[in-house]
Amino acid sequence: MKDTKFYLQCTQCGYHVADFKEWFGSMQKCPKCGSTIVDVKYNKDYNELKNLIKSSNGEAKNVFHYFDFLPLNKKENIITRGEGVIPLEKWDFLKKYAKEACNIDIEVHAYRNDLNQGTGTFKDVAAAVAASVLKENGVKEYCVASTGNIANAFAHYLAEAGISLSVFIPNDALKANEAEVNSYGQKIYRVKGDYAYAKKIAAEYSEKYGILISGGNTDPMRVEAKKTMVFEWLRQIGEVPNVYIQALSGGTGPIAIEKAYKELRKIGVAEIMPRFIMVQPSGCAPMTHGWVKAKAAGFPEGWLTDYPKYDNPVTKVPTLATGKPGTYPILARLVKESHGEMIEFNEEYLVDIARLIAFETTIRIGPAAAIAVGGFFESLHNGHLKNGDKVLINVGEGVRRAPDFVEEMIYTTQHIDSVNDCQRFDREKLRADLWSKVASIYS
Ligand SMILES: Cc1ncc(COP(=O)(O)O)c(C=O)c1O
Ligand SMILES: [Zn+2]
Repeated sequence: MKDTKFYLQCTQCGYHVADFKEWFGSMQKCPKCGSTIVDVKYNKDYNELKNLIKSSNGEAKNVFHYFDFLPLNKKENIITRGEGVIPLEKWDFLKKYAKEACNIDIEVHAYRNDLNQGTGTFKDVAAAVAASVLKENGVKEYCVASTGNIANAFAHYLAEAGISLSVFIPNDALKANEAEVNSYGQKIYRVKGDYAYAKKIAAEYSEKYGILISGGNTDPMRVEAKKTMVFEWLRQIGEVPNVYIQALSGGTGPIAIEKAYKELRKIGVAEIMPRFIMVQPSGCAPMTHGWVKAKAAGFPEGWLTDYPKYDNPVTKVPTLATGKPGTYPILARLVKESHGEMIEFNEEYLVDIARLIAFETTIRIGPAAAIAVGGFFESLHNGHLKNGDKVLINVGEGVRRAPDFVEEMIYTTQHIDSVNDCQRFDREKLRADLWSKVASIYS
């Protein structure tokens, strides 16, 4: 086994799946016990990871900077658009607000997934690695169910790999997502139903034609790709922030962060995971509802499987519309172990958040990213952030995802007949107004 780069270990029975050929050959199930969850293990000296995460190592150009710890054998199969190596930016305006509004001293970093060059979301790293692995293993056809962003990213990267992709999206998925997938010449099936139903039909399609289907939030290709987020934070700022805020749909992010920690602990680099603060939109917050109920009852026996399932959730953020979150037991355990929280953010205020961020930073965030930033304010005002915290907000997507949301950014326009209607303009006057909208949520 040692002459191979990696193997996949079943987390249920411990069976070693030799490689992706065997994994795909058994339709992504453990050949021994049928479980769908495997951990990728590398036959390398994990100490080599230390070199890759050194700040002096400035040559990183994309996620394949971490090639040695990704489940790909040959560099010639790499498909990349410069995703993954994106900046962590300091957002001192939020540090200032925390001090002034709540008298709390914190540092705040934003992780700029909007700068990913594939499709501008944090799904690009997953799709880049998946496309490369699928290509290496000779896969020609693939399918996926998606609320939107994974669909775009897979459509883009699989097209580059010459792989035909069928995408199953729910009836409320954004038209912009549908259009983008179409434009790469990939196939869309818009199902008459919600995301859970789209997943069901995609699984039936996979079974009917024997076509591989993306394994969702625990898919080893996606988890391995996203674990590199943690490596990047270490490379860029020399530490992992102790609070991680992300919009929550199915939860690949935290699952992948846990995987990164399994590897970092082997080499004594990082021990304690950040507190996971997971934020759901108010229109679709089943995980948060399960969590709040369990917390109030003191996490009674069986709490991990006690969560609501919503049919056809109605939310302004279709990207996060997972109404029946099968991964809740995994996520809730992770959040509890990390001493984190599952919260929701009132989606009525998404536009106020996005305008404020664009005013302060010129970064135009999409609605799912505004949920994460809203979660920051929610956490701050509800006592989930403490003095000395170093907070990382995962800005998961840029605004190009949602053209309707772009239009909602309009707020300075004045319709005029002549110059007599114009006054001189001072943008500073907008600032107080934008901040008071956000502050008013908590007054
Ligand atoms: C921008 C953005 N943020 C957050 C999420 C949630 O991702 P997950 O819950 O899989 O970690 C998604 C998922 O589609 C997304 O597109
Ligand atoms: Zn097994």
